[in-house]
Amino acid sequence: MRAVRYTRTGGPEVLEVAEVPFPQPGEGEVAIDVSHAGVHFADVMFRRGQFPLPLPAVPGLEVAGTVAGLGPGVTGLRVGQPVVALPMGFGGNAERVIAGVTTTVPLEGELAGLDPLLAAGAACNAATAVGTLRGAARIAAGDRILVLGASGGLGLLLGRLARAYGAALVVGAASTPQRAARAAGAGYDRGLVYGELAGLAPGLTDGQGFDVIVDAVGGEPREQVRGLLAVLGRHVVIGNAADRDITLDANQVWYDSFTLAGYNLGGVLARRPDLLRAQLEEGLRLVADGTLPLDVEEIGWDGVAEAHRRLEGRAASGKYVLRVR
Ligand SMILES: NC(=O)c1ccc[n+]([C@@H]2O[C@H](COP(=O)([O-])OP(=O)(O)OC[C@H]3O[C@@H](n4cnc5c(N)ncnc54)[C@H](OP(=O)(O)O)[C@@H]3O)[C@@H](O)[C@H]2O)c1
Repeated sequence: MRAVRYTRTGGPEVLEVAEVPFPQPGEGEVAIDVSHAGVHFADVMFRRGQFPLPLPAVPGLEVAGTVAGLGPGVTGLRVGQPVVALPMGFGGNAERVIAGVTTTVPLEGELAGLDPLLAAGAACNAATAVGTLRGAARIAAGDRILVLGASGGLGLLLGRLARAYGAALVVGAASTPQRAARAAGAGYDRGLVYGELAGLAPGLTDGQGFDVIVDAVGGEPREQVRGLLAVLGRHVVIGNAADRDITLDANQVWYDSFTLAGYNLGGVLARRPDLLRAQLEEGLRLVADGTLPLDVEEIGWDGVAEAHRRLEGRAASGKYVLRVR
């Protein structure tokens, strides 16, 4: 079968389209014939070797397609059924992939009308947005929210979802005025560049600070938001796109009366699969009913390396989805 593959870590040039053997489902697993597959920032991080992965590797951790086969012990699904899935061991940028039954959701009932292009583009980030705002940030109506990396695929969803959950103020921050304007044009109340935050946050929040800061960026912006939280505010760390962390003393959390929280989709799945499944289903329902519009660009097999280039070049604004068949 056809798959995007890399045999060594490195830049986007290590990606190739290759013939690879069909994977077989094991116990509790589902084989899926993929129609659409998301290209995700996590694919970039693993491809460049930030985290170890056995090689050769096939990227892709979100797909839509139809069930091709069931491993031992799988019930409640049937061959030919349309599904959306998170193959958490990657492999989704391929004609067939294996996913766990917990993260395979039938496109039926409230999800019956969901376009597989949107389903594949939403799966990972919509589940993450729900888990971040509801689970980690414990968002409440009237909260004032700041999202770093607001013009990225996840960032755009976070702003829209915060609004749907009743936030009173939703501010998006980005690296350039163009990206900040993109966030403002896509539902944020204000779009700011990171360097403006310290100066403008007090005026935007009546001098109180933000109740929630969502931070998938790390690096300098993570430094720049120190001191911008309201009393008992929550700084939620969900990524490290800049590939640079900061040092924070635990005593500072006490002195400043704030909460440091986190959300990691794979980590939640490993320890609370039921919770991850509920977050995935809620995120997909919100996309299906139009609460969470998604900005998707469909690409072909020859477009995957360029999508990686744009993701790591901070040039993406929305979601790339590979049309597999
Ligand atoms: N915790 C989880 O379970 C989970 C799940 C999904 C995604 N994530 C994380 O969320 C982040 C966003 O994912 P995404 O799908 O929205 O990707 P994306 O569309 O490429 O967005 C990446 C964002 O990070 C910002 N960024 C800052 N420094 C960067 C750098 N050095 N290189 C590239 N981008 C940089 C970019 O905005 P500016 O250029 O404006 O700063 C951009 O908005 C990633 O870090 C990803 O790992 C975490």
